[in-house]
Amino acid sequence: MTTVAETYGSRKDDHVRLAVEQHHLRAAGVEVNQFDEVRFVHDALAGTSESTVSLATEVAGTRWAVPLFINAMTGGSARTGEVNRGLAIAAREANVAIATGSMSAYLAEPALAPTYRVLREEHPDGFIIANVNANATPEMARRAVDLLGADALQIHINTIQEIVMPEGDRDFSAWPRQIARLVEALDVPVIVKEVGFGMSRAAVDRVADLGVSIVDVSGRGGTNFAAIENARRPLGDFAYLADWGQSAPACLVDAAAVAHRRGVTLLGSGGVRHPLDVVRALALGARAVGVSGTFLSVLDSHGVDALVSTILDWVTQIRQLMVVLGAPTVRDLANTDVLLTGNLAEFCRLRGIDPGEYARRAAL
Ligand code: FNR
Repeated sequence: MTTVAETYGSRKDDHVRLAVEQHHLRAAGVEVNQFDEVRFVHDALAGTSESTVSLATEVAGTRWAVPLFINAMTGGSARTGEVNRGLAIAAREANVAIATGSMSAYLAEPALAPTYRVLREEHPDGFIIANVNANATPEMARRAVDLLGADALQIHINTIQEIVMPEGDRDFSAWPRQIARLVEALDVPVIVKEVGFGMSRAAVDRVADLGVSIVDVSGRGGTNFAAIENARRPLGDFAYLADWGQSAPACLVDAAAVAHRRGVTLLGSGGVRHPLDVVRALALGARAVGVSGTFLSVLDSHGVDALVSTILDWVTQIRQLMVVLGAPTVRDLANTDVLLTGNLAEFCRLRGIDPGEYARRAAL
């Protein structure tokens, strides 16, 4: 008979393998990433110096030295425990926050604890984020947070992934109620996140109704769980969902007004490939930016030292881009002139967002 640990473990190993494969295909392909439809107006005389730029930001009431984090991925098998070790070492060396993958496997099988706890062991002073699904009870969520000494909890909401997963959930009716219960019961901040299909302004508004004040939009364009789960189906019959959802830039502009009105902090993730994408997301209102697939791929192909150098290079380059843009702080990026072009402009038009307001933000 297959044990709980084996069932979870093989799924987690599949996810990592398929996500890395997907990343290689995307890197080689010509697929449009909507971050490329966000263009800065170049200011040739911004008059800023690297020494005056601060990358500090605030998330969940805590100051982060840099507006970047390693987003939720894995744990639950021997191999993914080692992936978590590599990610945590990189997070420690680069001083960035890190989230674990869903802890459902640990909640079902406590013997899997070390594959998650390695995050705290390798990054003892770091900002660590636990991760559960929206079916978790307060007691389960507390166990997840306690295992890691976590500083915050992500609740992932992933209807498309569940639908495409043969063994996935089909009833999401309890999720709003469950999320509200978790927010109320826990004494760490709760972040609600998607897993790569994006959050609309209506979703952000609804999540705010439940008492949540941090949302990670996690949009389309990077790791694609419709494709990953479809690859695990014998008939691959959900191929038509490959293009589902909204990108992170689309979500950030879509939800900006409601987030401001409801006091929700937006985090940006999904499809982030390089430092310019990070700066683009920050300029569209994200307080910090999460990266999963791109960092996983570096770790998988080149090892932990390469991931450390990559993240440190990103931090340097984010700072350099802020110098060029004349934005000494993360918040100042929200005053840069940004052109929303192509399909993103069409999205804005259909959603009643004026791209002109983004193109002419700098005070003259
Ligand atoms: C993920 N992601 C994810 N998210 C989550 O909340 N819980 C999870 O368990 C997982 N598992 C997972 C496994 C792997 C291998 C990857 C690559 C990703 C989703 C992740 O946090 C993020 O939302 C999406 O991957 C989109 O970001 P990228 O990959 O395009 O940067």
